[in-house]
Amino acid sequence: MEINQQFKRHRRLRSSASMRSLVRENHLRTADLIYPIFIIEGENIRNEVPSMPGVYQVSLDLLHEELKEIYSLGIRAMMLFGVPNEKDEEGTGAFVDSGIVQEATRVIKQMYPDMLVVADTCLCEYTSHGHCGVIHNHDVDNDESLKLLAKTAVSQAKAGADIIAPSNMMDGFVTVIRQALDEAGFHNIPIMSYAVKYSSAFYGPFRDAADSTPQFGDRKTYQMDPANRLEALREASSDVEEGADFLIVKPALSYLDIVREVRDRFNVPVVAYNVSGEYSMIKAAAMQGWINEKEIVMEKLTSMKRAGADLIITYFAKDVAKWLNEE
Ligand code: PBG
Repeated sequence: MEINQQFKRHRRLRSSASMRSLVRENHLRTADLIYPIFIIEGENIRNEVPSMPGVYQVSLDLLHEELKEIYSLGIRAMMLFGVPNEKDEEGTGAFVDSGIVQEATRVIKQMYPDMLVVADTCLCEYTSHGHCGVIHNHDVDNDESLKLLAKTAVSQAKAGADIIAPSNMMDGFVTVIRQALDEAGFHNIPIMSYAVKYSSAFYGPFRDAADSTPQFGDRKTYQMDPANRLEALREASSDVEEGADFLIVKPALSYLDIVREVRDRFNVPVVAYNVSGEYSMIKAAAMQGWINEKEIVMEKLTSMKRAGADLIITYFAKDVAKWLNEE
C-alpha cells in the first residue's frame, strides 16, 4: 500500500548518537552526587559489607586512601555514617567531640577543605537498642530525642561538617536543630532534611553496614507509611516552613512519584536517596551476569533526575563518576 496519511516522525530526533545527545533533556553530573561512607572505630579495618559488595566499613587510619580515590574522581560531597565500638541507651557516641563522625570530619576537612562533608544526624548507630531516639515506655520519645539530636548537630558542625542531614524523623527536628545551630553561631550551615523518609525494607543492607537494626519493634511510629502520598507533602511543607535548605526523598526508586511532586511544589533543592537495598539488588543481579550493571545504574540514576531530583545520594557515586569521566 501507499501511505499518504500524515503522522509525526519522532524518529527524526533519534537518528544518530549526536542527534540524541543534542536533544537529551536530563543529564547526570558528578557534581550532583553525594557518596555515603561508613567509618568504623578501630585500626586497619576495611570490611566489605556482605550485603553491599563494593561498599566498605573503613577505619580512620585507612580513610586517606579512600579519600584520595573519591577526590580524584571529582566527587565533592560525602555523607558520613559512624560505626562506633560502644553503644548506650542515649547514643552518646553521636554527640561527643571525640565521636567517630566528628573525627572523620576533621580528617576529611584537613585533607580536602573543599570536600563537602554531609553529616547524617541520627542516633540509631549509637544507641544500644538501635532506635533513632531515646526510649520511654517502649516508644521513641520525640522531644527528649530532639535535645540529643540538636547536640549531635552542633558537635558535627563544630567538627567542621558543611551540611547537617537529620534522618531521625522526629517531629520538629528542623526547628530545634536550626535553633541550636544558630545559637552556636552556625547560621551558615544548611540543613538537608530527610523530610520524606519512608519506613522501608530497602534499608536492610544499610543496617548491616551501620549495625543499626532496632533490637525490638520497628521504626513505623516515626518513619512514614509507604502507602502515603499526601503525608509526604505535609512532611515536606513543615520542613520548608521550619527552615530546611534541602529536602530529601528516601528511598528513591519506588518513590519517584513523590520526588516529582516535591520538586513541583517546593523551591529548595530536592535530593533523592538511592538507598542500600536498591544498590544491593542491582549488584546481586550484575554479579550473576543477568544485567548490564553500568547501563542499569545510569538508566536508574537518570530516571531520578528526570523525576526531578537535583542531587542523588548513592553508593554507586564512584562508579558513576568513573563512567562519566570515561565519556
Ligand atoms: C539512619 C539512616 C538509615 C539510612 C540512612 N540513615 C537507616 C534507617 O533509617 O534504618 C538508610 C540508608 C540506606 O538504606 O542506604 N536513620
